[in-house]
Amino acid sequence: MPLRIGVPKEPAAGERRVALVPETAARLAKSGLEVHVERGAGARAFFPDTAYTEAGALLASDRAELFAKTDLVVQLGPPTPEDAESYEKPGGVLVSLVYPGRNLESVRAMNAAGITVYAMDLMPRISRAQAMDVLSSQATAAGYRAALLAAELSPRFLPMLTTAFGTIRPAKALVCGAGVAGLMAIATLRRLGAMVEAYDVRSAAAEQVQSLGAKFLALPVEASGSGGYARELTDAEREKQRALLGSAVAAADAVVTTANVPGKKAPLIVTRDMVGRMRPAAVVVDAAAESGGNCELTKPGSRVEENGVVIVGPTNLPGELAHHSSYMYSKNIEAFLKILIGSDGRIVAAEKDEILDATLLCREGSLKHGPTRQLLEAR
Ligand SMILES: NC(=O)c1ccc[n+]([C@@H]2O[C@H](COP(=O)([O-])OP(=O)(O)OC[C@H]3O[C@@H](n4cnc5c(N)ncnc54)[C@H](O)[C@@H]3O)[C@@H](O)[C@H]2O)c1
Repeated sequence: MPLRIGVPKEPAAGERRVALVPETAARLAKSGLEVHVERGAGARAFFPDTAYTEAGALLASDRAELFAKTDLVVQLGPPTPEDAESYEKPGGVLVSLVYPGRNLESVRAMNAAGITVYAMDLMPRISRAQAMDVLSSQATAAGYRAALLAAELSPRFLPMLTTAFGTIRPAKALVCGAGVAGLMAIATLRRLGAMVEAYDVRSAAAEQVQSLGAKFLALPVEASGSGGYARELTDAEREKQRALLGSAVAAADAVVTTANVPGKKAPLIVTRDMVGRMRPAAVVVDAAAESGGNCELTKPGSRVEENGVVIVGPTNLPGELAHHSSYMYSKNIEAFLKILIGSDGRIVAAEKDEILDATLLCREGSLKHGPTRQLLEAR
């Protein structure tokens, strides 16, 4: 009997993305897997049920039917703690983004339900895993969307305009955090005609920033950590950063922040004081709102106005670009399934592959991911 893959509607309210798009479903079906899709699962990302059936997938009328008929469920967000039991099934496997540090109760419930969970956000950043790198695919969408949001909220033109009635100077944009999302935000703001400056605590980002036609703001605070990521700043470094960054923030018409430190709350970069020095009509888009925010005034999911400066902290930027975010995520999942499902059509033991081993969160009642186990034990 072929392995049966299930694609449910996402459990989180407001989530528009879907984990598998019809194009991928077609390739999986062709490779001999059975793909089952809950009715309407792709609708909010503009992938209708008919596109799935034409791709060779079968429709399930609800979650209960989908879970009963499938061995492996792929989705974007973790189940809520209350929902976890519905995934229970001997040998049942879930492949999803989990962010265990932020969803400990869901992890506890999934583990108690005996589900085997692969967390796509634990994907190691090694070259063999690039095609499965969900953090990069979704950060690409987030950075693009954050730049568009800044343009949309700004009451100014971004490009320079020379008209019969005068010249308008280009908007000054500042991007804090020049990782995957930040670089995409820089490229998008540049395409819209803004003059872009960018800052990161990893000086290695300077070359990438400059190659996009932006200016790198070189501050004497270097905090490269392991694996190409940043480390948390010390208090003294944070003070130094703030003292030096204030005037760049004050001069900006649009600030887009994307800074993160893996496993930690997002660093606070733009303080209330700095916002107080900004000009009216300036905007701040805090793309790190979901992990705590880079701006002191950010209210995740809301819009705040302070002395004419608008600050927004969207919590699901990739979800606002649901069609293409789903497409990229689906490609990531397809690449992952190629190593998770062996040539005999069975699930490969995690110990046989470093990518499976790194992403395995829990299996049949045992928590495999050490840092998550420690966090749960500490509660
Ligand atoms: N090898 C691979 O397969 C692979 C894949 C994707 C990304 N990467 C690399 O990983 C790195 C991080 O990528 P990411 O976007 O996922 O990172 P991230 O989302 O963890 O952080 C975003 C950015 O915020 C920066 N940052 C953290 N604290 C800051 C602070 N206090 N002030 C200013 N900036 C701060 C980080 O340096 C990073 O560039 C980059 O070097 C990227 O090129 C490698």
